[in-house]
Amino acid sequence: MKIPQLRLFFLLFICSNSIAKKSLKRYSLLLPVFKDEITGQYITQMYQRTPIVPVNLTVDLGGRFLWMDCDNGYISSSYKHVPCGSRPCKLSGSQGCYGASCPVPPRPGCNNHTCAHIPYNPIYRTSTDGELAEDVIALWSTNYNGSIMGHLLASPSGVMFSCSDDLMLHKLAYGVKGMAGLGSGYTGLPSQIARAFYLPRKFAICLSADTISNGVILFGEGRQSAYASNEVQSYTPLLKNPVSTAGAYYPGEPSVEYFIGVEKILVNGKIVPIDSKLLAINKTTGVGGTKISTVVPYGTMETSIYKAFKHEFLKAIDEDPIAEPIRPFELCFNMSNLGTSTGLIIPQVSLVLQGDRNNTNWDLSMDNLMASPVASSGLLCLGFLDGGENSQTSIVLGGLQIEENLLEFDLVKKRMGFYKNPMLKRCNFLS
Ligand SMILES: *[C@@H]1O[C@H](CO)[C@@H](O)[C@H](O)[C@H]1NC(C)=O
Ligand SMILES: *[C@@H]1O[C@H](CO)[C@@H](O)[C@H](O)[C@H]1NC(C)=O
Ligand SMILES: *[C@@H]1O[C@H](CO)[C@@H](O)[C@H](O)[C@H]1NC(C)=O
Ligand SMILES: *[C@@H]1O[C@H](CO)[C@@H](O)[C@H](O)[C@H]1NC(C)=O
Ligand SMILES: *[C@@H]1O[C@H](CO)[C@@H](O)[C@H](O)[C@H]1NC(C)=O
Ligand SMILES: *[C@@H]1O[C@H](CO)[C@@H](O)[C@H](O)[C@H]1NC(C)=O
Repeated sequence: MKIPQLRLFFLLFICSNSIAKKSLKRYSLLLPVFKDEITGQYITQMYQRTPIVPVNLTVDLGGRFLWMDCDNGYISSSYKHVPCGSRPCKLSGSQGCYGASCPVPPRPGCNNHTCAHIPYNPIYRTSTDGELAEDVIALWSTNYNGSIMGHLLASPSGVMFSCSDDLMLHKLAYGVKGMAGLGSGYTGLPSQIARAFYLPRKFAICLSADTISNGVILFGEGRQSAYASNEVQSYTPLLKNPVSTAGAYYPGEPSVEYFIGVEKILVNGKIVPIDSKLLAINKTTGVGGTKISTVVPYGTMETSIYKAFKHEFLKAIDEDPIAEPIRPFELCFNMSNLGTSTGLIIPQVSLVLQGDRNNTNWDLSMDNLMASPVASSGLLCLGFLDGGENSQTSIVLGGLQIEENLLEFDLVKKRMGFYKNPMLKRCNFLS
């Protein structure tokens, strides 16, 4: 991972409480995102604590909150535990309270009578109990055209997170200390950052497909200024799933992941036959529907959807230089076996999404559909995998599907904005 651009700013000063409330309305705060070469995880670097230090975190778009390892080297004079029964504890949805087993002196991660929450690592699929705490965070400020102004802006108040132990870091990229949960709930970073910095409750994310350039997460109104262009943005409603889709949660918790309404899948304009029940979210069980995730590298489809999709996909390819697939892929083409010089013509795959009024198409670009496994350069593989017969969520759009796309999540209007034209996009506007 490289951040040539940001290093320049490490020396610069930190603004504190003097946030002009009004002026921020048109600015945004920025977190840089890097793709880790080894794990493929999307890593952000956030500043936290007093004195302030950078903390690397894996980005979890559907995560409920920020959590990190407090056992190793957490030193901060602005650390506060969230007491049981306090207002933030209640609003966090916590149903747990630590009793009286913490040693003297108390330390970050172990204070008596503290609100508990359940951090979850969706990559290792593990969870634990963690002390709920708050501390100051700082993000980069940007100017009107979205370039970094060189200021780290510190939050006037604490931002809540859950303290876990280092066992929870298993399978996360080297140097990462926790996960940045961007879920839609009260404790999700977007809502907390909006409250702390007086920003509108919206954020945009653009993940870079390579490990050299930066991607970004922009909180507030940044998208308009940073990506001012003539491109037409489309919107699709964010759908409620009343049942948590996290791996561990308190009874009654709703899902805070981002669900959108896929109505149809088209392959070269032809509708893939799918049991429409699978595309809807079952309000009792939370099963079904389509979500977006940054913790899976490739999208998945429930088995029957996958089979039907793969069938239509293969039908649309005249010549099929099918190769022995390499894991985790299930359908690969050997590009060196092509008889023609025109190459393999990959069909256009589009998702028909619920629109504000009419349906709207999301045309997947070639890069968002096909993956080239690094190990064997001659192969091109379908970037969707079989999600299994009893998959909780029928369709998951993973990292590959959203890379180099600017997605805007508006938590007030409950909609997601995206650009229809897949040709005009680059995320690394920092460099
Ligand atoms: C927590 O409570 C226990 C039991 O009352 C007590 O022995 C311990 O010293 C307390 N720890 C702290 C950090 O106050
Ligand atoms: C952004 O604005 C600053 C001044 O506000 C200007 O110096 C810079 O060149 C602009 N950058 C771009 C990419 O337009
Ligand atoms: C955090 O990420 C940055 C940017 O990629 C990297 O330079 C730094 O070494 C990382 N820190 C740790 C502790 O791994
Ligand atoms: C939701 O799932 C339950 C349990 O599987 C099932 O009984 C019910 O019919 C489903 N509801 C809908 C609307 O499909
Ligand atoms: C692709 O085809 C070429 C030529 O037939 C062959 O040499 C190569 O091993 C194949 N690659 C894979 C990964 O199957
Ligand atoms: C929806 O579709 C109808 C028929 O194609 C069209 O007349 C109407 O303008 C569309 N509405 C919007 C908001 O795009």
